[in-house]
Amino acid sequence: MRVLMISPGFPDDMPNFTKGLAETGVEVVGVGDQPEFSMDPRVAASMLAYLYVPDLWNEDSTADQVEYWLASHGASVDRVECLWEPGVVLAAKLRQRLGVEGLSVEQAVAFRDKETMKRTLDAAGIRTPHHYRARSEHEVFEAAERVGFPLVVKPIAGAGSSDTYTAVDESELTDVVEMVRHVSELSVEEFIEGEEFTYDTVSGGGEVLYENVTWYRPKPLVTRLNPWVSQTAISLRDLEAGQPAPGVELGRKVLKALGYEAGFAHMEWFLTPTGEAVFGEIGARSPGGRLTHAMNFSSDIDLFRGWAEAVTFGRLSQDKTKHYNTALVFKRASGGGSHITHIEGLEPLLAAYSEHVPVVDLVRVGERRRDWRKVVTGDGWIVVRHPDLATTMEIADRLASEVRVVAG
Ligand SMILES: Nc1ncnc2c1ncn2[C@@H]1O[C@H](COP(=O)(O)OP(=O)(O)O)[C@@H](O)[C@H]1O
Ligand SMILES: [Mg+2]
Repeated sequence: MRVLMISPGFPDDMPNFTKGLAETGVEVVGVGDQPEFSMDPRVAASMLAYLYVPDLWNEDSTADQVEYWLASHGASVDRVECLWEPGVVLAAKLRQRLGVEGLSVEQAVAFRDKETMKRTLDAAGIRTPHHYRARSEHEVFEAAERVGFPLVVKPIAGAGSSDTYTAVDESELTDVVEMVRHVSELSVEEFIEGEEFTYDTVSGGGEVLYENVTWYRPKPLVTRLNPWVSQTAISLRDLEAGQPAPGVELGRKVLKALGYEAGFAHMEWFLTPTGEAVFGEIGARSPGGRLTHAMNFSSDIDLFRGWAEAVTFGRLSQDKTKHYNTALVFKRASGGGSHITHIEGLEPLLAAYSEHVPVVDLVRVGERRRDWRKVVTGDGWIVVRHPDLATTMEIADRLASEVRVVAG
């Protein structure tokens, strides 16, 4: 079996997935806009061949080049994979061009375009926020009239909460419209009150083979708008508990409605104060924010290889038991300086809890602080895992509030 991997070395987790594919014993070929010499050598070593396409996002031209490249070697591929949001539709176009099974272009668009996504789910009777597409200021206000306040305005195909705002009345909406003037298509939707979670899955052969629910604390939009926040994300051990269960049920229905057969999926959903699960969004890819690592810590599993086995052979043969709740704590430096001058509060917490803290990876003193708008990990991450949720939260909350990375 031969698999074509789009952008095999970038970003973040892609090298791990590419290596995972090679470890399952399939032949891996890659296409991307990263020159091979700048790639992690272990990624290059995982591939049989790599096609460098500087203008990767010109989808038709990339499809032409890949088709010609394969034909000139008398080669074919059995699967096309991509775990990076901007390449999900490109992957589908390549499948179509190369006559390969998997997510079609129409299906991929339902994962990419938030309006098409929610309309498909509405038709399947799934609860989504009341929503409209808006292409002009006039359409935004028209949608607001139907949706009511409070509401959310966000790009139709956004990521990382960029250009996403709430408005509680017309005057706030007028300000929001100014801030998103550069975005050509918007989604205007009902603001859903409640806690926010993920539902992440690895599917193969039409079955969900691994499931995960992560609790965002606070919600991603709050983190985006408040630079002082240390975002915590807790992958929950017990998915049958009261909080995650409605989301698991919702998520399974969503995957079915979208016809998702194989690969990683990352859904976000809200749990309202009345206990209802409301759909947020879904991507046909692995989650960002190191969540695949959180799942790996929860189950002592390697889901990079697990995903590869699922998409190629339709099974996941590792032990999938969840032994731990796993919290990821992302730190952002405080202070006005450009370089990290000191780190406070870490030692006493590690003295007390180190056996439950498998990773402490903070930006070192003397290094430049990172731009939290660009990297989810900010100025470093700490991993906590424990079988008991309350204990996991207690340790994670102390690390989030008592450890200070300072750029003085
Ligand atoms: N309808 C909504 N109600 C409440 N909060 C929302 C709503 N839509 C988005 N948000 C907030 O904005 C964040 C980003 O929106 P999302 O649809 O997930 O887009 P992105 O692709 O940028 O992640 C969400 O994680 C959530 O915190
Ligand atoms: Mg999101």
